Amino acid sequence: MSTTRVLVTGGAGFLGSHLCDALLAEGHSVIAVDNLLTGQSRNVAHLRNEPRFEFRQLDICEPFDCGRVDYVFHFASPASPVDYSLHGIATLKVGSLGTFNALELAKKYSARYFLASTSECYGDPSEHPQKETYWGNVNPIGPRSVYDESKRFAEAATVAYRRYHNLDTRIVRIFNTYGPRMQLNDGRVVPNFMKQALLGEDLTVYGNGSQTRSFCYVSDEVDGFLRLAASNEPGPVNIGNPAEFTILECAQKVLAVTGSKSNIRYEPLPQDDPKQRCPDITKARRLLGWDPRINLETGLRMSLEYFRKALQGNS
Ligand SMILES: NC(=O)c1ccc[n+]([C@@H]2O[C@H](COP(=O)([O-])OP(=O)(O)OC[C@H]3O[C@@H](n4cnc5c(N)ncnc54)[C@H](O)[C@@H]3O)[C@@H](O)[C@H]2O)c1
Repeated sequence: MSTTRVLVTGGAGFLGSHLCDALLAEGHSVIAVDNLLTGQSRNVAHLRNEPRFEFRQLDICEPFDCGRVDYVFHFASPASPVDYSLHGIATLKVGSLGTFNALELAKKYSARYFLASTSECYGDPSEHPQKETYWGNVNPIGPRSVYDESKRFAEAATVAYRRYHNLDTRIVRIFNTYGPRMQLNDGRVVPNFMKQALLGEDLTVYGNGSQTRSFCYVSDEVDGFLRLAASNEPGPVNIGNPAEFTILECAQKVLAVTGSKSNIRYEPLPQDDPKQRCPDITKARRLLGWDPRINLETGLRMSLEYFRKALQGNS
């Protein structure tokens, strides 16, 4: 990607802040906008003295303009089940109004546009692993629908701007990603288990733990974003780690990496919890030459210090 002025919505979030770091490292100037609903200004605090970085606290559900940009990366949205359940209406709004405002900005400046979509578009999939051609199995009125449908709408809006306004767009479908800067209490598997293990609490496994997930380390994920952004592929493209683990296996890996003596406690499975979620990354491999490099155990080790410090309120 040639050096440009880039906007990242949700830039103070987990993925958005890592993306800002990676874009700056590539030589771009970056404006991060975020209303700090689920993000933290400390995620970008290390960039305070970086002259090519600017942070603006604003809600993208209101029209906004931060001057000419060459690329819009639209990452703003509550993302974890805890966050989108707590902020259901805000999630629907940022996926609809926020997406329109980000698309309008890209249109105004003839900028390229990159949407952070999600594997949740596949819902509780009846096809496994999920290819981009699979249309999904989503309950439109279930507890997860505020997130799933907001992202499906955001994808529809993105392809509509491409179709009707010739906007140069990309869509990435992100699968479970983990690493430093995740919130400790966001209900996602890795921070949950890490926190419980480090505190010596029981690790809570929902159902019998045989449901599977795939986990991608954040640096691999961001590398996939940059490759897609620099390509001419509109997507959607799955970016995630296809190595599949049962939740129980993940709990055991966290116990091994932390050296914790915690026990495993079983709780009832929540409604609409997907039984299997694993990306088919043939398209990313073929078109972007992308493959994840960091396995789960290594990634957990690379995240350990962050989670230790975060638990001491010192991240
Ligand atoms: N982390 C994952 O595993 C994962 C998986 C699939 C998709 N995604 C997508 O990636 C993106 C980033 O996810 P994340 O894990 O970094 O979540 P996050 O909650 O850490 O980051 C989202 C950011 O968006 C901001 N935001 C929310 N509403 C906003 C608004 N109206 N105006 C301005 N800012 C707003 C939040 O404050 C937060 O900083 C999301 O769009 C999410 O759907 C993430």
